[in-house]
Amino acid sequence: MCTIPAKEQPVTAQKTTTDRTTIDVHLGPDDLRAAMREEVHTGLTASPRTLPPKYFYDARGSELFVEITRLPEYYPTGAEAAILRERADEIAQAAGADVLVELGSGASEKTRLLLDAMAPGLRRYVPFDVSADALREAMDALAAEYPGLDQHGVVGDFDHHLGEIPTGGTRLVAFLGGTIGNLDPDERHDFFTRLRGGLVAGDSLLLGADLVKDPARLVAAYDDAAGVTAEFNRNVLHVLDRELGGDFDADAFEHRAVWDAEHERIEMRLRATRPMRVHLTALELSLDFAEGEEIRTEISTKFRMEGVMRELRAAGFEPAGTWTDPDGDFALCLAQVSMPR
Ligand code: AVJ
Repeated sequence: MCTIPAKEQPVTAQKTTTDRTTIDVHLGPDDLRAAMREEVHTGLTASPRTLPPKYFYDARGSELFVEITRLPEYYPTGAEAAILRERADEIAQAAGADVLVELGSGASEKTRLLLDAMAPGLRRYVPFDVSADALREAMDALAAEYPGLDQHGVVGDFDHHLGEIPTGGTRLVAFLGGTIGNLDPDERHDFFTRLRGGLVAGDSLLLGADLVKDPARLVAAYDDAAGVTAEFNRNVLHVLDRELGGDFDADAFEHRAVWDAEHERIEMRLRATRPMRVHLTALELSLDFAEGEEIRTEISTKFRMEGVMRELRAAGFEPAGTWTDPDGDFALCLAQVSMPR
């Protein structure tokens, strides 16, 4: 781990910005590359073939995701923002925290609503993201908007660095957007348990969870008419081509969004429209795809409130409040680390 100034500031830059901003880097470009090799090799040689959704988010993929959040079919972002606009004060009150930690902070859009609600007693903002670039950009923007805000960024991944969330103060850990749905039940239990292990009495978790609803609406949200999600999905193949020396013909893969009623989740897949052989030189790997063969690129689990509560309790959290939007599409759940009895 190394601590670096958030940004190489020109000498004329405001001193307060650098003074109040640090980034802990637990994950360098080499670690990311090694992890990618390993995970992509494992996923693409498995049956069925899978890819981890985190590789969607290069610069282009992050742009496409922002576009997705503005699509008429993609309701989660708007629904969650609506809850925060109405209820952030109440949530902040219930949490009683003076440090906001945000997991997978990305562009930190919804962060502002929480920061404002916590403002009177707020001590520090701790964005945690796998992308150093995204983190730096978000921190710079916030430094300009919230002069004097103390920021301590963490570059890391959820598998290895949840224990590295800086201590001090009473922390509210926000995990928004429904990203928890990318994990399967075992992975969620493991995630919640490890997160809980790094927290202390008085800290809390604010979890954004997308709720089960009419499958037609769910499928539309992941297979929009404008084809943005299809492009977002295929983008992962461009990422593999660039990062691992691949020769995927992304246009020969068709986007699919499938509702899995048994597991109550959307699966995004890429389906080969013709037989093909693909090479990934960095992995010394050749793959033969049959026509119709699919790669599962993402699961997006949809939840029922009682299920979320059960999972949080099982990991040692105490549910302390739930909020939904007027249409009941999305939920924010606050869970506390109880005081020792
Ligand atoms: C960012 C993981 C919450 O699962 O809805 C959006 C990603 N994938 N459209 C989701 C996504 C396709 C999104 N999360």
